[in-house]
Amino acid sequence: MDKVARLYIKTYGCQMNEYDTDKMVDVLRAGERIELTEHPEQADIILLNTCSVREKAQEKVFSDLGRMRPLKQARPDLIIGVGGCVASQEGALLIKRAPYVDVVFGPQTLHRLPELIAARRASGQAQVDISFPEIEKFDHLPATQTLAGSAYVAIMEGCSKYCTFCVVPYTRGDEVSRPFADVMHDVTELVAQGVGEITLLGQNVNAYMGEHADGDSVDFAFLLQAIAALDGVQRLRFTTSHPKEMTPRLIDVYASTPKLVSHLHLPVQSGSDRILAAMKRGYTALEYKSVIRKLRAVRPDLVLTSDFIVGFPGETEQDFEATIKLIEDVGFDMSFSFVYSPRPGTPAAEMADEVTPETKAVRLKRLQDLVNRQSQAVAQGVVGSVQRVLVEKLSRRDAGELAGRLDNNRTVNFVGSSGMLGRFVDVKITALEHHTLRGEMLTVT
Ligand code: SAM
Ligand code: F3S
Repeated sequence: MDKVARLYIKTYGCQMNEYDTDKMVDVLRAGERIELTEHPEQADIILLNTCSVREKAQEKVFSDLGRMRPLKQARPDLIIGVGGCVASQEGALLIKRAPYVDVVFGPQTLHRLPELIAARRASGQAQVDISFPEIEKFDHLPATQTLAGSAYVAIMEGCSKYCTFCVVPYTRGDEVSRPFADVMHDVTELVAQGVGEITLLGQNVNAYMGEHADGDSVDFAFLLQAIAALDGVQRLRFTTSHPKEMTPRLIDVYASTPKLVSHLHLPVQSGSDRILAAMKRGYTALEYKSVIRKLRAVRPDLVLTSDFIVGFPGETEQDFEATIKLIEDVGFDMSFSFVYSPRPGTPAAEMADEVTPETKAVRLKRLQDLVNRQSQAVAQGVVGSVQRVLVEKLSRRDAGELAGRLDNNRTVNFVGSSGMLGRFVDVKITALEHHTLRGEMLTVT
């Protein structure tokens, strides 16, 4: 029997990185016997799947790497690999800063990980591959195995929007969509394994333009409808989408396709037209609100979540008030909101920034308090109703309880057995306790 290699892997950042982490495990498993460990000191391979979207995330990687150094000194055959966006941005410089790193690979070359590790072992030289070999990555990934009722399917990579604050187009490359037939193949396989909920994944899923077998390209609306038409698919989600590409065709899908959930994460970043233009977002606050109005006309119960950046260079009190006004007008259930972090190499990093850190912190708190109040109101709004829930896991607080997800992405806890995991059940929502919904299971489907 081959020796089992123990793998420690740490993920920073977004859902795309979570997905990539699963794929790293899969590609390594396809070549050798792998056992996951939560203790880096016990590992034979250590992988850090990094994020560089904000400076804090990037610095965390280097401080974590510093802690790995003594492990490598004690066991020179340990392999330390760095993937993700920090790896993509730093490339060979990363080896200069941390010479005990063995392998540096980007989000687009993770499928080459086994060869990179083998080359490192054979040559004794650190290996760096942060190229963008188009969509090659997806062609080389083993099919996903799953026991859960829900799975992610990546439909596109990269981003071509070049918002002035963001590193993603530089670290992940331009938008590239997977061919329609490849996505359908993955979804069909997952459905055959009993997966009822599919989440389509990409940096900008609604920019999807996939090649069709007949030679034409198909858009995101077409893809959603094709997936929803599959019998085994019970629920369809996606993340993340861009306001600029919320096309009338896509809004029509909300009208015609009940399997598409009543939750949309639509990053707006700011409510000030001046700041939106400086960010190069490609829409005004009014255009954003108009998209939401059209969506709510066909889906009155649509729950919205968003991303905000506070303290973008030159943001005045008036600009910030415009963001608060937009939040009041739209109503959100949750936000990922952060103070702007200058990223080297992006246009915004060159812009004059006179807002003090204290002012930025005060603005962030005010924004988050407002969204939290709105969130409580959204949760209160479902109390008393019956909701379809996908059972996801045992509740953290009580092993006799289950945690499941509503169509609108909220979690509810209720009494049930582990045999229900991965299944859809009808739950009556009975109460909102602090921030958690509670319910009673009615029927199982
Ligand atoms: N595709 C998404 C969209 O339509 O905006 C965004 C993906 S981006 C990787 C995730 C979030 O990170 C952004 O929505 C933004 O709020 C935040 N972000 C990106 N760059 C940032 C920066 N330099 N400082 C603070 N937050 C940032
Ligand atoms: Fe970043 Fe803007 Fe794309 S936030 S991921 S450049 S849409």
